[in-house]
Amino acid sequence: MFTIAIITLLSLTAVFGDTPANCTYEDISGKWTFFVSSRGHDKTLDCSKNSKTVSQISMNLYFPDVVVDEFGNKGFWTIIYNQGFEVVVAGRKYFAFSLFKQSGVTVTSMCDQTMNGWSHDIYDRDWACYYGKKATAVPPKTYQKVKSERLFKSNYDFINAINKHQKSWTATVYPDYEGKPMKEMLNRAGGPASQVHGSIKAAPVTWEQQRSADTLPDQFDWRNVEGSNYVSPVRNQESCGSCFAFASMAMNEARVRIMTNNSQQYVFSPQDIVECSEYSQGCEGGFPYLIGGKYAEDFGLVEESCNPYTGKDGECSTKPGCTRHYSTGYQYIGGFYGACNEALMRMAVFKNGPVAVGFNVTEDFFHYKSGIYHHTGLDDRYNPFEVTNHAVLVVGYGEDNGEKFWIVKNSWGGDWGEQGYFRIRRGTDELGIESMAVQSFPIV
Ligand SMILES: *[C@@H]1O[C@H](CO)[C@@H](O)[C@H](O)[C@H]1NC(C)=O
Ligand SMILES: *[C@@H]1O[C@H](CO)[C@@H](O)[C@H](O)[C@H]1NC(C)=O
Ligand SMILES: *[C@@H]1O[C@H](CO)[C@@H](O)[C@H](O)[C@H]1NC(C)=O
Repeated sequence: MFTIAIITLLSLTAVFGDTPANCTYEDISGKWTFFVSSRGHDKTLDCSKNSKTVSQISMNLYFPDVVVDEFGNKGFWTIIYNQGFEVVVAGRKYFAFSLFKQSGVTVTSMCDQTMNGWSHDIYDRDWACYYGKKATAVPPKTYQKVKSERLFKSNYDFINAINKHQKSWTATVYPDYEGKPMKEMLNRAGGPASQVHGSIKAAPVTWEQQRSADTLPDQFDWRNVEGSNYVSPVRNQESCGSCFAFASMAMNEARVRIMTNNSQQYVFSPQDIVECSEYSQGCEGGFPYLIGGKYAEDFGLVEESCNPYTGKDGECSTKPGCTRHYSTGYQYIGGFYGACNEALMRMAVFKNGPVAVGFNVTEDFFHYKSGIYHHTGLDDRYNPFEVTNHAVLVVGYGEDNGEKFWIVKNSWGGDWGEQGYFRIRRGTDELGIESMAVQSFPIV
């Protein structure tokens, strides 16, 4: 048993941090055994090395969010996009990415096992490492990564076609895209590790949810609440797949401003995330649940000056001794992955502040200039694009000539779109934007 465990763990470190797994609720639900290493460590514990199993615990994971451990304690769990899952039971949290291996362009997900993950009590005092194995085997899944060596070439026919096809939004040419490697364009839109293969849909809005949401104002914008702006300035991630870090920082920045009536106006460091967080894959991508939520709770965020943005992967160079700003209570809106919908999102935005969301970026979105975006379904023949999941921040909502929209902060600089923002159709789960919103609550 031990030998097997150690071999598995060694092979894990080698594959960590490239392309993600692709696991679903069906794959993960069921009976698991967690193999846990020694406890008593603090959060500096390196789980890519620490591995020797000293105890085991079994867990039954029931769809969608109830877990029962071997002693009958009931708790909570959720899958985290298609990347892995988190379990909270008997005062401890367990999170690990699902196991995957990559050879060349072929990625294989083994959804019945996890990588080496982290287990700690809910107050972050007592850390251990663990990995999980499901009692019943799940057939491995493979997919081929699309590798494009092409350079981006502005396609005027495509842009004209978008503008002819519909009147809700306007497309434009962005000269700075010209000649960029498609890999960089992919990174801007989320990065290869941010793909959410397979679909999760927004949950149906119940009658009670609709009734509560109907009491909210028809439009609301955190950039202007009775003349005050609670949203931090727009930034530019450049060609690193760090949108998830920017969306996560932006959510915490805005919520701190809201909670302190703008007396604390931090700008947090996405570079700290890119270089130092093991809950994401640096410039290859990552997800707000794990960063704006879990990392902010477990490790805290530092200010920009503590590790200024370079947009490149590297060794962790965050200055020691910087103040860490924590948040807590992170969750998918609705409670678990797949429970989110438009009404719940609107309530969370109005009541608590901006929420981090993900949506599928397709070729037309790159050319957005103004208006209320929806996917036209048109293809850009010159710049074929692999769909990626782009993380951004919803800061408000409204309605224009009967068309409902979200107001969304992007991280492609202030010259993109409507001063760095875009509006996108609301109420139709456009490109999945109402299916995976995340919030967390800064401790101020
Ligand atoms: C998003 O893209 C993924 C991957 O191509 C696809 O499986 C999923 O159905 C898409 N979801 C939506 C809502 O467009
Ligand atoms: C991911 O898994 C889902 C569900 O098993 C499957 O439908 C989808 O094709 C997979 N996507 C990729 C890219 O492997
Ligand atoms: C919040 O700040 C504004 C502007 O400085 C001020 O007018 C207002 O009274 C403050 N609100 C509270 C509740 O302190």
